[in-house]
Amino acid sequence: MTFPRYILGIDTSCDDTGVGVVELAPDGSVQVRANRVWSQTVHAQYGGVLPELASREHVERIDTVTGDALAEAGLTAGDLAAVAATSGPGLVGALLVGLMYGKGMAQALGVPFYAAHHLEGHIFAAASEADLQAPYLALVVSGGHTHLFDVPREGEYVLVGATRDDAAGEAFDKVARLAGLGYPGGPAISEAARRGDPEAVPFKEPLQGQKGFDFSFSGLKTAALLAHRAGAKPEDLAAGFERAAVRFLVGTTLRAARAYGRETVVVSGGVAANRALREAFAASSVRAVFPGKGLNTDNGAMIALAGAAAIRAGRAPSPLSEGAVAYAPLASV
Ligand code: KG4
Ligand code: ZN
Repeated sequence: MTFPRYILGIDTSCDDTGVGVVELAPDGSVQVRANRVWSQTVHAQYGGVLPELASREHVERIDTVTGDALAEAGLTAGDLAAVAATSGPGLVGALLVGLMYGKGMAQALGVPFYAAHHLEGHIFAAASEADLQAPYLALVVSGGHTHLFDVPREGEYVLVGATRDDAAGEAFDKVARLAGLGYPGGPAISEAARRGDPEAVPFKEPLQGQKGFDFSFSGLKTAALLAHRAGAKPEDLAAGFERAAVRFLVGTTLRAARAYGRETVVVSGGVAANRALREAFAASSVRAVFPGKGLNTDNGAMIALAGAAAIRAGRAPSPLSEGAVAYAPLASV
C-alpha cells in the first residue's frame, strides 16, 4: 500500500457528531489532519440526552461534518485509504448513523473498514501527542466512564479499576448544577475553583484504605450537597470538590502504576481537559500522556487514530456485517 495513508474516523456514540482525519506515515507515526465536531444543543432543554433526537441530528449532520473534515484536511474522499467508525459502546440508534455511514463510504471507495471501540478511541487520542507503545496504564475519565486499564501489550486491556457509582465527569456536572455554576460542569467547576478556598469545605477522600483501584464519587457528591445546604459559597465548593476529586483520581492511578510497574499513564476523556488534574499528573513520578487540544471530549479524530493503530498492528478489517452495541466492555477484570 502507498503512503501517506489517510484514515477517516467517525464517532456518533452520543450527542456529538465527530469526524476526523489522520495521516499515517511510513514510519508508523500519526498526525491529526482534521477534527470536526458538531455538538448537539437540542438536549439542553430536557436536562439530558434524548436518544431518538440524537440519532436524527446525526443523520442531518453527518454528511456536512464529513465534508468539513475532508476540506480541513485538504483532501477528497478518493484520497482515503481506510474508514473507521465507532461500533460501541453508546446509544445504539446514534451509533448506527456513523457506523452505517462509515461502512457505506468504505464500500463505495473500495477501502477497508475498521469498527472501533469508543474507549479505545479515547485512549488512542493520546497518540496525537506521543508515540504510544505498550505497556502503559490508561485512565479514561469522561461523562459516562471512569475506567482504569492496564495495557500490557498492544490491543490487550486489563480492567484494573472502575467507578462504583457516578462517572467522574458526571460528578463534576452534578456538583456544578447543585452550586448553580452551569453546564457543562467540568469547565465551570474548574473556573470557579480558581476563586475559591479549597480548605473552606472539608471533603473526605473516598474509599480510603482500599487495596484495589476502584473509584467512587457519591460520597463527594453528598458532602457537596450538605455543604451547599449549610450555605457554602459556590467557588469554595468548587475548589474543595475539584481538589478532592483530582487527588483521588491521581492517587489511585499512581498506586496502580506502582503495583503494575508502569511508567507511562495515558489520561483521556472529557475530564482529562481539567487543568488541576493535568498539573497533578505532570508533577508526579510517572510519564503522563494527554490527548491534544480538542481530542479530550468525544470526537472522530480519536477513532481515526484507533483505526491507524489497527492498521499499524496488522489487524484485519472489520466485516461490513459488524453491528452497533450499547454495552461493550473493553476488558474483563
Ligand atoms: O468524553 P466526554 O465528551 O463525553 C463522554 O464520553 O462521556 O466527556 C464529557 C465530560 C463532562 O462530564 C464534562 O463536565 C467533563 O467531561 N469535562 C471536564 C472538563 N471539561 C470537560 N471535567 C473537569 N474539568 C474540565 N475542564
Ligand atoms: Zn466518550
